[in-house]
This record gives sequence, C-alpha cells and structure tokens, in this order.
Amino acid sequence: MGGSVAGLCQSESRYADYELVRYFTAGGMADLYLVRSLQEGVSDRHLVLKRIQQRYLDHTHVVQLFLDEGRIAQTLTHPNIVQVVDVGEAEGNYYIAMEYIAGHDLVAIARRGIETGKFLPRPLAVGLVQQVAAGLAYAHTHTDSAGHPLSIVHCDISPGNIVVSWRGTAKIVDFGIARAAIALRKEDGVAGKYNYMAPEQIRGEDIDARADLFSLGVILWELTLGKRLFRGKPEIARHKVLEEPIPQPRDLSVDYPEELATIVMRLLERDRDRRYSSAAAVSADLRSFLRTTKGGWYKQDVALYLRDLFQSPPSESARDAEFGPLPSEEMVVAMPALAEAGGEIEIDPETSNIEQSVDGAPQPRAHLPRIFAWAVLLLAYLALLGALVLGARPE
Ligand SMILES: Nc1ncnc2c1ncn2[C@@H]1O[C@H](COP(=O)(O)OP(=O)(O)O)[C@@H](O)[C@H]1O
Ligand SMILES: [Mg+2]
Repeated sequence: MGGSVAGLCQSESRYADYELVRYFTAGGMADLYLVRSLQEGVSDRHLVLKRIQQRYLDHTHVVQLFLDEGRIAQTLTHPNIVQVVDVGEAEGNYYIAMEYIAGHDLVAIARRGIETGKFLPRPLAVGLVQQVAAGLAYAHTHTDSAGHPLSIVHCDISPGNIVVSWRGTAKIVDFGIARAAIALRKEDGVAGKYNYMAPEQIRGEDIDARADLFSLGVILWELTLGKRLFRGKPEIARHKVLEEPIPQPRDLSVDYPEELATIVMRLLERDRDRRYSSAAAVSADLRSFLRTTKGGWYKQDVALYLRDLFQSPPSESARDAEFGPLPSEEMVVAMPALAEAGGEIEIDPETSNIEQSVDGAPQPRAHLPRIFAWAVLLLAYLALLGALVLGARPE
C-alpha cells in the first residue's frame, strides 16, 4: 500500500461515481483504491474500489465472472462478510465497490505477531475463525429472493482474504470474486495456490461448501499452532494436501485442547463426506469450545491485542472503524496475558501467505510483563527515596 497510483492516470482523481482518495494495493487481477462516493446523500465514509487491471480486460470470460460473482456478493449482508455496495462499468473498465475494513488481514497480523514475538493467542485465534465460520454459514445457505439456494462457495478462504477490523470483527473479502481470479490463473496456465485448497478442489472436481470448510481448517490449524501446514511452492503444496499425513495438533503442542483438536481434524478430513457438513455446525462447536475455555474470548480482546500489536490504529482508519469506543491505552497495558503467545510463523513474500520457520516449537514470549517489572522497580525506588527523605527530616 502506498501513495503511487499504479494503473491509474496520475491526474485521475475520480472514477465512475467515486473520488479517488489513494491507491490501496494490488490484488491478483485487480487494483484496489480507497475512494469516497460522489453521490449526493451517500455517506462520505471510505470505500474500497476494486478495478480490473487493464491487461486482463480482454479475458472476457473472467471479466464476466468478476461481474456476475460481484453481483451475487452484493446480495450478501452479514457482519463477517465485507459488504459489496456497487458493481459496475465505467470508462471501458469494471469495478466492485465495497465497505472499507479499517484493520489488517490475517497475513499481516501473523507477520507482525512474529516480528514482535506476540503471536495471536489461541483463544483469540479460535474466536476469529469462529466469526469466519459464522460468515460462511450465512453465505453457504443464502437464497435468491424466490428462496432458491444459490450454492455460494467462496473458493479461496485464506489468511489474505480475512480482514480483522480494529474493533475485532473478522470479515471475509473476495466472496465469489475469487472464482474469477482462479479462472484467470487457469486461462493463463499459471499454477493455482494450493496451500489452503481442499483436495477435491485441487483435483478439479465439482466443489460445494465443504471445500471452504477444509480451507478454514487449515487456517485454524495454523493460527492455533503457530506453524504452516501445507507449505511450499504449488507442486509441493499440492502433494502435501493430497498425500502427506496431517500432523495431529496434540503431537505438536502438549497443551492443545482435545476438543479443539477434534474440531480441527474434522475440518481437515480429506474425504469430504467425513468432514463437517455445514459451517453452522463448525461455528457452534467453536462457540461451545470457547465457552468452556478459561477466560473465553471477546472481540474487545482482539481489539486490544491489535492495538498493542500495531501500537495504534492509523488516524485515517479510526474514522472509518466500526462504531463504538476504541479501547483505551490503559486497558491495552492492563492485558499482559495477551503477550504470552508463541509462534514460529513467518510470511512468504511471494505467496503472501503465512510461512513456517525452520526451527523449533512455539515459544512463549512476554513483552508487556517486562514493562511491569520496570514499573515495580521504579515504584520501589521512589518509595525508598521517600522513606529516606522523611527519615532524614529534622525533628
Ligand atoms: N474491503 C476491504 N477493506 C480493507 N482491506 C481490504 C478490502 N478488500 C481487500 N483488502 C485487502 O487487500 C488485499 C487484496 O485484496 P483482494 O481483494 O483479496 O485481492 P486479491 O485476492 O485479488 O489479491 C487483501 O488481502 C486485504 O488485505
Ligand atoms: Mg484476495
């Protein structure tokens, strides 16, 4: 993300009905911009406009898929799915405009967690995955206005497609649109990204909602263990997903809860008939696990964790973040337990995925407690000084 306006004429300040605020990032087949609507009476909150890159405009099948799926995504309204607000054409190009989620995707959160030694604590990771499951449960069972099931499948549930807001809400991006990107890779003869893909999807079979559940299982496994599961270049990842034994969480982490391990492994069943059959069931099981977990989890905890991890939300984002007060500084400092998380994940810059490092098992690290230790020392010192001054005072 940065100031350059790649793919846009430098002087361009508006496109379709939108004012361009800044270039946001490049996606696989489209560029993303932060924009504001120029329409009368529409809120001036930031939106994200996703516009197909010029070089792909002649892939008519892919463009059609982008628009069709974008229109279906527009009918999805759920707190855990990014809201698409507009799909259209302008100046010979095509775009999708959607809600801007002020926050970070799971790739960035994992990366930052490793850099700072404060990897996402397990209950928080489970809470985020539970939210994604809730979003999937809604989309998978969504019907058209006549009540006919739309059989929506995301097709690319991966850490880069889950953005967590500063308030701690996890939202799925790229709903449906991922299909266009996958079609484009096929047309261009580029190998797929298999690291989060269900076996039946890799084999090119017809897929259903259960493919998304396998992908969700990979994310849950990785975020709760701090390791990559199917790591590597396409051919290696493909082999791992299809053939290699999937390590049992409890073999890697002695304190891994049995109930959670059962959920993860049921999501990761290669035979989809043995997998969870609905995202709603996954969401319910994760909820019940979290209820029994000491301390449970709250969105507020994620908000505080993110605040601590990235120090503070950028001012631009604060205005756009969901409603409600941001956690105060004192609360952030008062949550040392959140710092006690281990992780051996790093990011593969090429695939923008979470990567596993070569060495060792996750190690608990604590940074905030160090601040407390210093504070206690300082207080003790001041108390001693006070006592000396009082003691030395003449009668
Ligand atoms: N609506 C949004 N709000 C905030 N960030 C977003 C939004 N949509 C996408 N992003 C960020 O931009 C990145 C790329 O967008 P995405 O639509 O997933 O592109 P692609 O999958 O084609 O690479 C995402 O990984 C996410 O970090
Ligand atoms: Mg994406």
